[in-house]
Amino acid sequence: MDAEDPSPLRRFVVAKRSITSIFDQLLDFVKDGSAFVDEAWRGDDLGQVAVEEQSLEMQSCATKLSTIREVLLRRHMKVAFFGRTSNGKSTVINAMLRDRVLPSGIGHTTNCFLRVEGTDGDEAYLTTEASNERRSVATVNQLAHALHMDPTLDSGSLVKVFWPKSRCALLRDDLVLMDSPGTDVTLELDSWIDKFCLDADVFVLVGNAESTLMNTEKLFFHKVSERISKPNIFILHNRWDASVTEPEYIEEVRKQHLDRCVSFLAEELRVVGLDEAPGRIFFISAKEVLSSRMQRAQGMPETGGALAEGFHDRLREFQRFERTFEVQD
Ligand code: GTP
Ligand code: MG
Repeated sequence: MDAEDPSPLRRFVVAKRSITSIFDQLLDFVKDGSAFVDEAWRGDDLGQVAVEEQSLEMQSCATKLSTIREVLLRRHMKVAFFGRTSNGKSTVINAMLRDRVLPSGIGHTTNCFLRVEGTDGDEAYLTTEASNERRSVATVNQLAHALHMDPTLDSGSLVKVFWPKSRCALLRDDLVLMDSPGTDVTLELDSWIDKFCLDADVFVLVGNAESTLMNTEKLFFHKVSERISKPNIFILHNRWDASVTEPEYIEEVRKQHLDRCVSFLAEELRVVGLDEAPGRIFFISAKEVLSSRMQRAQGMPETGGALAEGFHDRLREFQRFERTFEVQD
């Protein structure tokens, strides 16, 4: 792995491994030291080499190190998705998970923050901030029902969805995907940032290929980059399949979107250099990727449905985005 490795998850996993191993070594060292001081204090007839307080101090140090190590082991890489309502945030996450996990589409507007992480068990379930009780969510309809029937949930609350790792390889590597309500549905951007964004490792802005970035979307990312130094931001132009209806303009429109987003990332937000910015921008169709993956999972050929022209290019672009989250040993 070199310093320019584009995968944030790979960098995260490697960093987590090395910091955990440093804490393992420290802990071994302190435990040895603690055993030595303890022995010296108890067996020290002259009372000169070590005293009881020193032994207790060493023990408390070992306890603190174990606690830090546990916290580090629990740390996930959190990827948070933002964008205007209906741009396809939930669909993008489903496409990455290769299944309809999160409710999406008409009547399924995301009404709170939804954090998806892996579980070792075979059952999908959710917990809310108000209750740690595990509620089974075997199907997307159960999840949709649970979300809409719960009066305690609003756009400032968080639901944790635990999805079996056996059903999604991405979730095996400490990855957490976080869906959000549309940035245009709230006046609470600041409290969202405080509550949900300060520990996010990657931000994905899900835009819409048919229109340019809106001020609310830009404002949100300006606020994020005021609070977090150089946030890791990727931009998806979703619904790019819709562009095939006007093939004569497609390259021009693409270039316009690309130029605006490069300037937004490199010149307005200054989170990446001009040379690196184009690599952060993707033209995709999450809906196509999701349906082709679900068809394939059911043993049907992915071309079984009516695929719009240019599908394979858009699929490759989606895979290029996903590669930024892959971990290969
Ligand atoms: P909110 O939860 O309301 O903020 O919306 P969202 O951003 O999560 O959008 P969602 O994933 O629910 O998608 C909205 C609608 O757009 C759904 O009907 C999707 O099927 C459709 N959609 C999502 N991605 C695509 C795409 O790539 N192409 C097309 N044509 N439609 C898409
Ligand atoms: Mg949604």
